Amino acid sequence: MTERIVLAYSGGLDTSVAIGWIGEATGAEVIAVAVDVGQGGESLETIRQRALGCGAVEAYVADAGDEFANEYCMPTLKANALYQGHYPLVSAISRPVIVKHLVKAAREFGATTVAHGCTGKGNDQVRFEVGIQTLGPDLKCIAPVRDLALTRDKAIAFAEEKGLPIETTKKNPYSIDQNVWGRAVETGYLEDIWNAPTKDIYDYTATPEFPPAPEEVTISFEAGVPVAIDGVRVTPLQAIKELNRRAGAQGVGRIDVVEDRLVGIKSREIYEAPGAMALITAHKHLEDITIEREQARFKATVGQRWAELVYDGQWFSPLKRSLDAFIEDTQRYVTGDIRMVLHGGQAIVNGRRSDTSLYDFDLATYDTGDTFDQSMARGFIELWGMSAKVASGRDIRVAGK
Ligand code: ARG
Repeated sequence: MTERIVLAYSGGLDTSVAIGWIGEATGAEVIAVAVDVGQGGESLETIRQRALGCGAVEAYVADAGDEFANEYCMPTLKANALYQGHYPLVSAISRPVIVKHLVKAAREFGATTVAHGCTGKGNDQVRFEVGIQTLGPDLKCIAPVRDLALTRDKAIAFAEEKGLPIETTKKNPYSIDQNVWGRAVETGYLEDIWNAPTKDIYDYTATPEFPPAPEEVTISFEAGVPVAIDGVRVTPLQAIKELNRRAGAQGVGRIDVVEDRLVGIKSREIYEAPGAMALITAHKHLEDITIEREQARFKATVGQRWAELVYDGQWFSPLKRSLDAFIEDTQRYVTGDIRMVLHGGQAIVNGRRSDTSLYDFDLATYDTGDTFDQSMARGFIELWGMSAKVASGRDIRVAGK
């Protein structure tokens, strides 16, 4: 029986060529797998037809928008996950959901190998292959760009020679990856890290220098998940989409960073994640009033570690799963409304309310009639400073000898 390979298929030039390229190099039949994670653009049907037109024996397409939003974006939101304090893991969280579908398709069509279009220099090859190893330990992995010398110019030549139904002339100097959680742009002119990004790089966000009038939005959360916007019930996917549109129009969520890749390279990346950044900001502010201080401090550390694990391709690892359980537990009371103003590239919270809030007006107020007994503070401070005071006494004693 001819061997079968499932290929993570985007519909673009490189993976379209990869179908025939893999076929010629290995003699295997190729099944194209396209997963909609809210990247916009062409319909799944158009992509399916192109895959078949490029020589795939089967095309598996999955409309995974809700799955991605519910099972991947929401955990990222609950963790307030920002890799290196900046990056909301846009590409990193899309790989595991694609992996799930690749493994599913491999089972359905009896494939022994999984192929992806990543280069040998990035994080995504690691995320795909570690994910495959975990969910389908018997499956082999192959990356035509990395393992079968499929370079860009060879891809163009191959597509033209075979008359593949794909455009080879459109020249985009950037490498772009996008989904509903955000958009990542790299390479080209951006590789000089002193170069400011030009306007044409952005798609999800408008220039914040010329913002429309400020817009106010109220986001309601239940147990850490957005459930309504301005009082209208939404699914997580709808919440992200609506905020992509509204926060994007105000230029919210532009990020320009040099980040540490897992493979040891520092790389420049431009992200735009208007919905994700607006949601994370709102969610964090709701946590500020609903999560107890020590739990909140520890959660910040856990969220950072969670972001590193996910960035590093460990989505399906035991530690990530354990941290998920902790984070989920912290979300029990993260229910309430956050009001914020979107304007000039910023999402600024200006109101919060929650039935499960820990904010106690009577304790906090400086007006007369507060319930806080200030006389307790003196003794508390005395004891709080005691161990440092004893140590400093020792320092003086030793220095004096
Ligand atoms: N640097 C990001 C990451 O590793 C995004 C990579 C996505 N690829 C791209 N072509 N921009 O998660």
